[in-house]
Amino acid sequence: MATTLGRAALLLEPGQPVSVEIDAPGPNEVLIRVVASGVCHTDLHVKNMNGLGMNFPIVLGHEGAGYVEQVGEGVTHLVPGDPVVIAYRAPCEQCPACKRGDLRRCWMALRPKLRIKRKKDGATCAQVLRCGTFSTHTVVHSKAAIKMPANMPLEKACLIACGVVTGVGATFNTSPVYAGANVAVIGCGGVGLSVIQGAKLAHANKIIGVDVNPVKLKWAKDFGATHVVNARDGDPVAAVRALADGVGVDFAYEAVGKPICIEQAVKMLAYAGTATHIGLPEDNASVNLDLSDMDTGVYWNKACLRVCHAGDTLPSYDFPLLAQLYLQKKLDLDSMVTSIITLNDVEDAFHEMETGNVIRSVIHLG
Ligand SMILES: NC(=O)c1ccc[n+]([C@@H]2O[C@H](COP(=O)([O-])OP(=O)(O)OC[C@H]3O[C@@H](n4cnc5c(N)ncnc54)[C@H](O)[C@@H]3O)[C@@H](O)[C@H]2O)c1
Ligand SMILES: [Zn+2]
Ligand SMILES: [Zn+2]
Repeated sequence: MATTLGRAALLLEPGQPVSVEIDAPGPNEVLIRVVASGVCHTDLHVKNMNGLGMNFPIVLGHEGAGYVEQVGEGVTHLVPGDPVVIAYRAPCEQCPACKRGDLRRCWMALRPKLRIKRKKDGATCAQVLRCGTFSTHTVVHSKAAIKMPANMPLEKACLIACGVVTGVGATFNTSPVYAGANVAVIGCGGVGLSVIQGAKLAHANKIIGVDVNPVKLKWAKDFGATHVVNARDGDPVAAVRALADGVGVDFAYEAVGKPICIEQAVKMLAYAGTATHIGLPEDNASVNLDLSDMDTGVYWNKACLRVCHAGDTLPSYDFPLLAQLYLQKKLDLDSMVTSIITLNDVEDAFHEMETGNVIRSVIHLG
């Protein structure tokens, strides 16, 4: 089959998008015409952390949705024209967790062969998290392309792929919130606001949003926080514990990536509560957890610390469910899109993310 010509924003080629050529999909792969991609903070981390171990050039983007354009050999569950959201953690079916049937705890993910080439020199491009959605076209493993209902708008559906499934999934799968639980969410960006939405869907009692940006705190309330705390106004641990009946919260979710926020999440727990670490840590990051304090120490407070990767998602089940929740108006994706941009504006979107008042910029590709 012929190669497809496309345009992609490559890392190491900042500014204008460059031309790329995309090889035909191989066995069990699909070529996707990407129509929308959210810009997640993890893409910015990849940029700021020198590629996070990937070889340059790199096609960023892992919050993408589009249409199947070609299917490779052996693909029977998709046909050209199907609308899909791309999952970066489709279970590998090989690792110990998959073998014992615990697909949500998969150690790896299905990956395609790298099929995007920079046109000027034929250099093979890495794809962030096996996706590479800051591109008009990409090739992914066929089981990572999750079919959407025909009436699901893809420029909203793309958010499901990372920010939304991570935040909502943290409250459904990683550390399931029970009805009536008190919940704190540290960091109210795209992921944290999705945690708030998940906690609300799970019928939490108090949902306390913590951020350093007053605009984010206003949005936290719009998305379902019952209380908010500006961490710049004093000790957020004391403020959250006071709001949670003086005893702390049953669940604290950290969606920032700073060690201090993980320490705060653990310290604000009620007895036998669970803290969930979601934010991507920087290199050489470590935390200091007190074990022995009678009120907030890990031992005496019987604290549990979990780590969330992509909301422990099983994409084939979760993505259609989240789309249904959106179509039933129980999950707000519309308000999460704060700006619609083009492939030329990726650098601006990163800058906006670093400086502030954005939930998700969504790149429209066609
Ligand atoms: N574990 C996963 O599977 C997964 C998935 C997606 C994103 N992430 C990571 O989660 C983090 C959040 O992603 P995002 O896209 O929501 O980012 P974002 O930039 O949209 O949001 C981060 C928020 O943290 C707030 N913040 C910064 N410092 C703070 C502090 N000291 N206390 C409280 N709030 C503070 C910011 O104001 C901002 O609102 C990033 O580190 C990202 O890489 C992890
Ligand atoms: Zn696996
Ligand atoms: Zn992401």
